[in-house]
Amino acid sequence: MHEQRIRKAEDADLQEIIRVWKSNIKTINTASDIADLFHSFKKYFFVAVATSADTSFEDRVIGFVGGAIRGGHGHISGIAVDKEYRMKGIGKDLLKVAEHEFIAKGFDKVTLEVRKSNRGAIGFYEKHGYKFLYIVKGYYADGENAIVYEKKI
Ligand SMILES: CC(C)(COP(=O)(O)OP(=O)(O)OC[C@H]1O[C@@H](n2cnc3c(N)ncnc32)[C@H](O)[C@@H]1OP(=O)(O)O)[C@@H](O)C(=O)NCCC(=O)NCCS
Repeated sequence: MHEQRIRKAEDADLQEIIRVWKSNIKTINTASDIADLFHSFKKYFFVAVATSADTSFEDRVIGFVGGAIRGGHGHISGIAVDKEYRMKGIGKDLLKVAEHEFIAKGFDKVTLEVRKSNRGAIGFYEKHGYKFLYIVKGYYADGENAIVYEKKI
């Protein structure tokens, strides 16, 4: 049987984090942008791995959350779960561990940006207590607006 668990990201996870990030998030972040974030804020990166009792099956990264510190508070730079593993609560668990790490470090809020068209992620964040803050016009390279969300933790 396959299960999923969440753990802190390690250096060896970076290539898989880049894969999950670039294949699930409409982003202009290059692999080297993602690597820079990872090296600056590794403490706030977690991965979801699919594991199996069958030892011939290697643990595989199927999701990640990338936290950061921005302007003296917590920030979610990216979160994604591979399509076939979505809607099982993995996104929720990833968001929780990042939020707990921010709380442990004494931060009292978390912010994030999301594309205005990303209804799925917006529904997900609102469900988890994130509140609309403001719109940043043309935030993304293709001209799309970003919505900034905030959660008090
Ligand atoms: C956002 C994302 C990480 C959520 O991961 P997930 O593992 O599917 O999330 P969960 O299973 O914990 O979902 C929890 C809740 O969020 C909501 N939700 C998640 N995906 C949703 C979607 N596509 N549409 C509407 N609601 C959604 C559901 O209400 C769900 O509630 P439920 O548990 O009562 O069914 C995932 O959809 C994803 O990788 N999306 C693509 C990447 C992306 O857009 N990331 C955000 C921008 S950085």
